[in-house]
Amino acid sequence: HRGRKQVVNGVERFGVSMAPDLLSRFDEVIAARGYTNRSEAIRDIVRDYLIEQQWESGEGEVIGTLTLVYDHHEHDTMEQLTALQHHYHEAILSTLHIHLDAHHCLEVIVVRGSSTDIRRLADKVITTRGVKHGKLTCTTTGQDLA
Ligand code: NI
Repeated sequence: HRGRKQVVNGVERFGVSMAPDLLSRFDEVIAARGYTNRSEAIRDIVRDYLIEQQWESGEGEVIGTLTLVYDHHEHDTMEQLTALQHHYHEAILSTLHIHLDAHHCLEVIVVRGSSTDIRRLADKVITTRGVKHGKLTCTTTGQDLA
């Protein structure tokens, strides 16, 4: 189909074949999320996918947030997490700590560094005993994403 490639005003249009059921489910979900058209939704999904790929391929610098919930009474979780954060202080820009209830703490750690370092830090934090849930979300400055 390369012969039919047409770029108008900096965008290229392309057709996508999809089963009607799949497409109508997609339309429902994107409408509920506030998208006014499919193109906008698909662009966001493609960017998200590319960021994820870039990050998983282990190349370059990543920026992200590491979100975790733990019980500060359990084990020595707090001490372990503090030690880890000091060890990786160069990769940590900021830490937000919220006391959720009598037992639970929510921590959001903003990270920036090589994807290898960030992944290693995230794995250590998430697997620390006492951490009930942990998730790393990575993003980029988007310089190479239109
Ligand atoms: Ni707390």
